[in-house]
Amino acid sequence: MILIMNNNIPLNQKNIILIGFMGAGKTTIGQLLAEKLGRDFLDADQEIERKHGMPVTEIFKSMGEPAFRQMEKDYIVELCRESREKVVSLGGGSFMQDEIRSACLDNGIVYHLDLTWESWKERFEDLIDTRPILQSRSLEEIEELFNSRKRIYTDNHRTVAVDTLTPEQIATIMVEQIRASWENEA
Ligand code: S3P
Repeated sequence: MILIMNNNIPLNQKNIILIGFMGAGKTTIGQLLAEKLGRDFLDADQEIERKHGMPVTEIFKSMGEPAFRQMEKDYIVELCRESREKVVSLGGGSFMQDEIRSACLDNGIVYHLDLTWESWKERFEDLIDTRPILQSRSLEEIEELFNSRKRIYTDNHRTVAVDTLTPEQIATIMVEQIRASWENEA
């Protein structure tokens, strides 16, 4: 068991926060997990889009990446401070920001959805149009980004390998692990 208690929020009230590279399945798996646990689900990108009234692609285009990163930080840090008992999926780049990483690790249970580069490449075509970060980068550059992000994602409470499992199977495994950790703490 590698769940670390950094503050006094009981484990069964902590938000469960999903991190991982674009296309790892954070939103799909997060929704399934929330259903199974009877919790509300929040997708950070969708919440930012709602708050600012435009799609992430449009925020990148009209306001630039730094503006988007600031929005991410404001939204996620506040969410970590204010909310309990949610399942939250984060945009793949957000965990690169120190303040976001600390807020999530201190207040939530952080799950890394770990995908290999080989599997990710098969998902590339489905992602390119809606992920500004992938545009204007070569495959080699994306692989570099993938590897550098992966090093940061290792700062987590739990990792689940997602290559060969369906979202339903992954969510089921996570629910079992989470419920076991709650029972351990009780
Ligand atoms: C980004 C990932 C996207 C979204 C934005 C930037 C990134 O979210 O936040 O396009 O920097 O990796 P997903 O990980 O849900 O695709």
